[in-house]
Amino acid sequence: MLLINDLGAHSNALRNSIDAALSRVLARGWFVLGPEVMAFEEEFAQYLGVSKSVSLANGTDALELALRAVGIGRGDGVATVANAGMYTTTALLAIGADPFYIDVDPSSRTTTLAECERALDAGVKAIVVTHLYGTATPEIKQIAGLCASRKVPLIEDCAQAHGAKIDGKMVGSIGDISCFSFYPTKNLGALGDGGAIATNNAQLAETVGRLRQYGWSSKYEVALGGSRNSRLDEMQAAILREFLPLLDQWNARRREIARLYAATITNPAVQLPACDGENYVGHLYVIQTKQPANLRAYLKEKQIASEVHYPIPDYRQPVFNGKFADLRLPNTEQLACSILTLPCYPEMSDEQVYQVSEAVNSWQS
Ligand SMILES: Cc1ncc(COP(=O)(O)O)c(C=O)c1O
Repeated sequence: MLLINDLGAHSNALRNSIDAALSRVLARGWFVLGPEVMAFEEEFAQYLGVSKSVSLANGTDALELALRAVGIGRGDGVATVANAGMYTTTALLAIGADPFYIDVDPSSRTTTLAECERALDAGVKAIVVTHLYGTATPEIKQIAGLCASRKVPLIEDCAQAHGAKIDGKMVGSIGDISCFSFYPTKNLGALGDGGAIATNNAQLAETVGRLRQYGWSSKYEVALGGSRNSRLDEMQAAILREFLPLLDQWNARRREIARLYAATITNPAVQLPACDGENYVGHLYVIQTKQPANLRAYLKEKQIASEVHYPIPDYRQPVFNGKFADLRLPNTEQLACSILTLPCYPEMSDEQVYQVSEAVNSWQS
């Protein structure tokens, strides 16, 4: 079976550096909030071009703690897209905040300035913009300008877009605070869970630093509500330090795979994503068709895995018990019933890409 992602190939190719990183940590005997975490936070901030990064246990905590740090609390409205797998909504529900769902552009599959303006006019207290599938939200700079003029914090969710740039500027360096996941399948993935926030605001970084460790102002003195234990461990930090210098070359290969797909998939029943250039880092290669389930089954017969990211708009999730029954976001809904993700990962060979393209081309809808 051709997998959607091959994490074994990914980690085996780096076995020596992983072994060295783990040995370093074992020899030191310091496993939580030690020198590897501090060094990774500095190196990651430098990579992004921001002054501070605070590492965390996962990307969902990053969203929740970032929201708490900018002051979001129970009952506050927060704008978010509904096509990004429920992660921001999960963070909002944990706080008791109210999601205000905004639609996406059908081509970029990310949100727009106009939708953010609609949310601001409705009184949201913060906006979360998700750079989905590896694509930098095209209007992110204008959205940042709008949020600044309305004095509403902008949070970037970069969990699928490590290293993507817009006009030469890294995503994650544009909003007030940005959130990353290092889940193993991410463009920069650990060998377990991990996450981080990044910001140029020292106060926000300090607040997240406290929120991730019981709300301590000093050891055993708790000053901050809404806190928890959410720390990246030394082993994952050491591994991420080995991986970070390879991120750009992995992203380049992902982009190359996307270009190969674009050059070889010719089936007229399939619509290809508009993605090229440094604003796209190939996290997921997502095509569209009128019958995605049929194509998925066909690919499976041909021993090719595919996925749907994501099948259910957040506001249609059963957890809401019909609370948003009257809400319609046409582009979000149209995407949910037409998208299909093809394999795209740095270790994929050209031959494997051609194998997928041939299978897609031979499918008759
Ligand atoms: C867009 C997006 N945001 C947030 C998350 C949450 O990250 P994590 O799984 O590390 O909690 C993910 C990934 O899972 C994601 O894809």
